[in-house]
Amino acid sequence: MEDRPINPSLNSPVTHSSPEDRSPVLEIIGGHRLSGEVRISGAKNSALVLMAGSLLCSQDCRIRNVPSLADVARMGEVLSALGVKITRKDDALEIDARHLSQSKAPYELVSQLRASFFIIGPLLARLGIARIPLPGGCAIGARPVDLHVRGLQAMGADVQIEHGTVHACIPGVNRRLKGARIYLDYPSVGATETLMMAATLADGETILENAAQEPEVVDLANFCRAMGARIRGAGTNTIVISGVPSLHSVDYAVIPDRVEVGTFLVAGAITQSELSLAPVVPDHLTAVIAKLRAIGSEVVQETPSRLRIVPGTSRLGTDIETLPYPGFPTDMQAQFMALLTLSEGDSIITETVFENRMGHVAELNRMGADIRTKGNHAVIRGVPFLTGAPVVATDLRASAALVLAGLAARGTTIIQGLHHLDRGYDDLEGKLKLLGAQIRRVKGDAGAESVSSLPVMPRS
Ligand code: EPU
Repeated sequence: MEDRPINPSLNSPVTHSSPEDRSPVLEIIGGHRLSGEVRISGAKNSALVLMAGSLLCSQDCRIRNVPSLADVARMGEVLSALGVKITRKDDALEIDARHLSQSKAPYELVSQLRASFFIIGPLLARLGIARIPLPGGCAIGARPVDLHVRGLQAMGADVQIEHGTVHACIPGVNRRLKGARIYLDYPSVGATETLMMAATLADGETILENAAQEPEVVDLANFCRAMGARIRGAGTNTIVISGVPSLHSVDYAVIPDRVEVGTFLVAGAITQSELSLAPVVPDHLTAVIAKLRAIGSEVVQETPSRLRIVPGTSRLGTDIETLPYPGFPTDMQAQFMALLTLSEGDSIITETVFENRMGHVAELNRMGADIRTKGNHAVIRGVPFLTGAPVVATDLRASAALVLAGLAARGTTIIQGLHHLDRGYDDLEGKLKLLGAQIRRVKGDAGAESVSSLPVMPRS
């Protein structure tokens, strides 16, 4: 999702801004308890793929509970560039893809938003042709799209990669993809979603084996089913899709964002505060809740859609390995690393999903953490306290980890690189403020002054 170029080494130093940098920064005065209730927004990764899925339908689509995020706005621009009408009314998007006309997505947009590549499936299914620039790598890994491409080829598409663009078309007269049995080498979320969308309008039955089981995949399947698609098995590792000739209009609400829930649960644990969160789907958070319990916090299910975090008196280290769902989510790795810096003893985090998702390590160490990395492992030795520091967010979840560390640290933390945070958290600072956090976004000049008055780690 992130738009920085791929960074070849783990734990590499990041660039701290010059005093002239006027981008806004987040100033957090840490060490305060929080309390209250948090209203959880719709899931970013569902909303984005549902927007792509709306291209499958040549009638009106209404998607509700859409979070207000930079990434959602960008995806809206991608759809508009294809000739789709899209309007936002409060938390709902009204999408009319009747006049979908353009098969080529603009590079400037796709390169900024990886999820926009996922339109390749619906575009191909609707128009018989799609030309999508390769999104390229990003701050957390190379993120190839070979599984998407191979799956579309198995369904009969002719796919060529030329001049950095994936050109896909369906040969033959009826311009329909053909159902196929597809085994994914890895349960990729994006590839499962691309192929599921493509298969909804294909001729015959598609079977996706070793499919991703993430809740966002299930949400997409439910959305497509609400439009008349025939899909079964979503949420298991085998999804069966029987193609239908067309889909009809829909009014659908996005599921709650399980990563936002997880981030606020960690906010409670790291500041030793009781927080209540709703709406949530507790079943989506089994691995996260298990790790919070191992660390010493209690997570109580107050109602079917409300969780309360009750932090323990001490925090214990634990080991975490990120895995495809239902394993521990890579999107919560950075936030848990922040929490483990303040937990007793040693913890080991192993990142298996993305090859370069440890940009937050160097920044947490600036705040007094004791973390060493080797390959895809991080060894975290708990310290008694963190201290506020100027830090730079390197990607979306890294920025959340720095906010969490800043809430717990002694003194003031100044976070640069907020464009990452804004991509994926719906008003994080507003929600934290309501809980009593001392957090504010300040203009870069004010922030730059504070940043420049503090020691900056030398670049390697
Ligand atoms: N992969 C391949 N080939 C492919 C596709 C994926 O090798 O064709 C590899 C990737 O490089 C990566 C692994 O498979 O190493 C997992 O990638 P996956 O395709 O599952 O991830 P994604 O669909 O690109 C979505 C989320 C990510 C989330 C991952 C894993 C969206 C828009 N993004 O990405 O969200 O981390 O699934 O759960 O749905 C975030 O929200 O911060 C974020 C990065």
